[in-house]
Amino acid sequence: MSFKIAVLPGDGIGPEVTEEAQKALVAVAGRFGHSFEFTRGLAGGAALDAQGSPLTDETLALCQQSDAILFGAVGGPKWDNPQVDLRPEQALFRLRKTLDLFANLRPVRAFPMLSEKSPLRPEIVRGSDIIIVRELAGGLYFGQPKKRWETEEGRRAVDTMDYSDREIARIVRVACELARRRRKGVVSVDKFNALISSRLWRQVATEVGQEYTDVELSHMLADTFSMQLVTNPTAFDVVVTGNVFGDIFTDESAVLAGSMGLLPSASLCGLPTGRTLGLYEPIHGSAPTIAGQGIANPLAAILSAALLLRYSLDLETEAQAIEDAVQAVLESGHRTVDILTEGSTKVGTKEMGDLVVEKLLS
Ligand code: IPM
Ligand code: MG
Repeated sequence: MSFKIAVLPGDGIGPEVTEEAQKALVAVAGRFGHSFEFTRGLAGGAALDAQGSPLTDETLALCQQSDAILFGAVGGPKWDNPQVDLRPEQALFRLRKTLDLFANLRPVRAFPMLSEKSPLRPEIVRGSDIIIVRELAGGLYFGQPKKRWETEEGRRAVDTMDYSDREIARIVRVACELARRRRKGVVSVDKFNALISSRLWRQVATEVGQEYTDVELSHMLADTFSMQLVTNPTAFDVVVTGNVFGDIFTDESAVLAGSMGLLPSASLCGLPTGRTLGLYEPIHGSAPTIAGQGIANPLAAILSAALLLRYSLDLETEAQAIEDAVQAVLESGHRTVDILTEGSTKVGTKEMGDLVVEKLLS
């Protein structure tokens, strides 16, 4: 089969790790007889410098015309001036909003051979296997009013946490559909005791949950959940939550895996069943301090490519092949510096990508 993939490597380590993810996709195409047409575009700081905008209309159109978007990371100190309104991150926000990528899936798995890299005790993280489903196109990131102004007493600013029943229902449905294919548990996380938008969230989540008689949906407050996530992570299967809570919990959940360099993500504009346009990116960000050194862990980007195959191209066997290859490389004891353990073999970004390709083709 033949597919169009837009590749937006972005800034910092984005280009280095995206290169390795693309290599894995090329290997999959060869092994399974598909044809992927990759088209590159600039995003973030790289686009600001070269094109004066974090994401041009042309790049947006390229993404709209593709089957999937492989994304690296955006941002860096060079573009961090708080006085400047144009920021690299706006590339992501524009893509999320315009393409309505409302469903952000962030799977977190504790690889057994890496349990010593987690700051948590091995007996706590062992067996953790969670998907956090974060609402990505609404909530505090996008609600209006969103502005800053001068008053007689000084400067003020406001952001708005705003959710409609439709927005809540569709993200909870994504979580229930995923749970149906897993261990059938959904925990919806909100701040029901303090926020009106959370009270609507809990009500709508309950209503949607009733449509899924095979799924057990329960609720948890965000503060309680933030503690449970690191004290009792194996209690969770699918977790669904709003935009800003999801942002925080997904970084927190990286401690279960032992490194940010292992966590992939998918941002979809529909249910995770069949073929859905999606954007696939590692959650680690541009990591400017290690950019250009060839030491970044490409596994989060490579695992994002697996999610691309699964959710946008509906190629489950191929997705699984990448995940198995990553597992095999880790089992063979090869590690980038962020996951280096005693007795393992240190490799760089490119070498790690080569090892995954080798396993894919063997
Ligand atoms: C993420 C990132 C982004 C977010 C940043 C880069 C704006 O932290 O995807 O989690 O907050 O959504
Ligand atoms: Mg984040």
